Amino acid sequence: MAKLDKNFLWGGALAANQFEGGYDQGGKGLSVHDVMTAGEHGKAREITETIEDDKFYPNHDGIDFYNRYKEDIALFGEMGLKCLRTSIAWTRIFPNGDETEPNEEGLQFYDNIIDELLKYNIEPVLTLSHFEMPLHLAREYGGFRNRKVVDYFVRFAETVFNRYKDKVKYWMTFNEINNQMDTSNPIFLWTNSGVTLAEDEDPEEVLYQVAHNELIASALAVSKGKEINPDFIIGNMISHVPIYPYSCNPNDIMEAEIANRLRFFFPDVQVRGYYPGYALKMFEKNGYDIKWQEGDDEILKNGTVEYIAFSYYMSTVVKHDEVTSVEDNVVNGGLPNSVKNPYIKESQWGWAIDPVGLRYTLNVLYNRYQLPLFIVENGFGTTDEFKEDGTIDDQERIDYLREHIKSSIQAVDEDGVDLMGYTPWGIIDIVSFTTGEMKKRYGLIHVDRDNEGNGTLKRTKKNSFYWFNNVIKTNGEEL
Ligand code: BG6
Repeated sequence: MAKLDKNFLWGGALAANQFEGGYDQGGKGLSVHDVMTAGEHGKAREITETIEDDKFYPNHDGIDFYNRYKEDIALFGEMGLKCLRTSIAWTRIFPNGDETEPNEEGLQFYDNIIDELLKYNIEPVLTLSHFEMPLHLAREYGGFRNRKVVDYFVRFAETVFNRYKDKVKYWMTFNEINNQMDTSNPIFLWTNSGVTLAEDEDPEEVLYQVAHNELIASALAVSKGKEINPDFIIGNMISHVPIYPYSCNPNDIMEAEIANRLRFFFPDVQVRGYYPGYALKMFEKNGYDIKWQEGDDEILKNGTVEYIAFSYYMSTVVKHDEVTSVEDNVVNGGLPNSVKNPYIKESQWGWAIDPVGLRYTLNVLYNRYQLPLFIVENGFGTTDEFKEDGTIDDQERIDYLREHIKSSIQAVDEDGVDLMGYTPWGIIDIVSFTTGEMKKRYGLIHVDRDNEGNGTLKRTKKNSFYWFNNVIKTNGEEL
């Protein structure tokens, strides 16, 4: 018997801000990403006040999908993708975020994209907000600190739900809503919520107010979406980096249990429709005064999600008596007591390669929530070399994907997890989120562009392209 359902959603994942480019085309407004310069591993991206002439902003051009979408979607069709997960750039629809009427040219652009995908029988899977808040909402309103932004987000969600209601079935609200729990790196609160912290603020208290507003926004969007089309399937989207205990020392186990709340706080609310006890107790103990409006309980209860989409790239480890500096732990979610896992190798960017951790994650999430799961990001960011014959032999990427797919199939076939699909991240090379680099490539299709923005933008199929095409054809039987 086949291990995966015949409708398993094999696909690819992207985000508007990282690949579309055309940052000032078609009436688009500036987003929080349009003022982020390029950094590199160990060198943070800068968030500038406005666009500065002497700085490089890699998201402005992305890989120019805006002007090349037909060519790219034809390649996705050739690869055999059954779905494409991408996002709608909020600023193409509401350039400043607070307009009352949407920008028709922006809506038309996504009509074109969706129609082109459907032409190749590729199901669109859309993220409402993948780090793309209008800059105006961040600067003038303070992003999701401000409850008004909830209304603007819901207006945006309603607009696109109504426009695409007959063509799109799968939606998710906020990309990696929980990665902003790491307040040690300012880019997470900025990109997720348009928030910057003042020096005298308690980052955690700000975070939970922002989180509350965003949870309300997510729940309202789910309820509106289901009203507009009851057949919509609407999920949340979280980043899951499981936190392992370093040893069987009960103190390490407890340390990991507590640390994992950072991962579960958002989905606990989005799935169950109410706050978990550990969070309410923490607000009480810390004296946090989270502003809550009348009716919020109902909103959360009525706007629960139907599936959980998540990204999985790596795992991390905590040790109760270890104190390491946050700088040493940038890739581990800024946990102050995380340590290296002696059993696991890391990528060039320090991301721990742990395929078993994906099976573990699928089990943990499924057992905790009993909802269908969707792996909407997984992949290996690394540099690529052209061989003399003009091909790219990206065996390391193939190995990474193969081992993670194997683990996912085991979770379905041996553990009984309900898994909807698998969409590798950055199916075509795009700008890296955390570093803004091009050379951290995830793609199965190469794009000729470097870290400084030079290159012809020519697309070349890597060996992984052909490999993944066969994986899809055989529904995961041949890996
Ligand atoms: C996730 C994001 O954090 O990881 C993506 O949802 C991002 O936007 C991906 O690109 C990989 O991260 P990076 O920094 O390697 O691009």
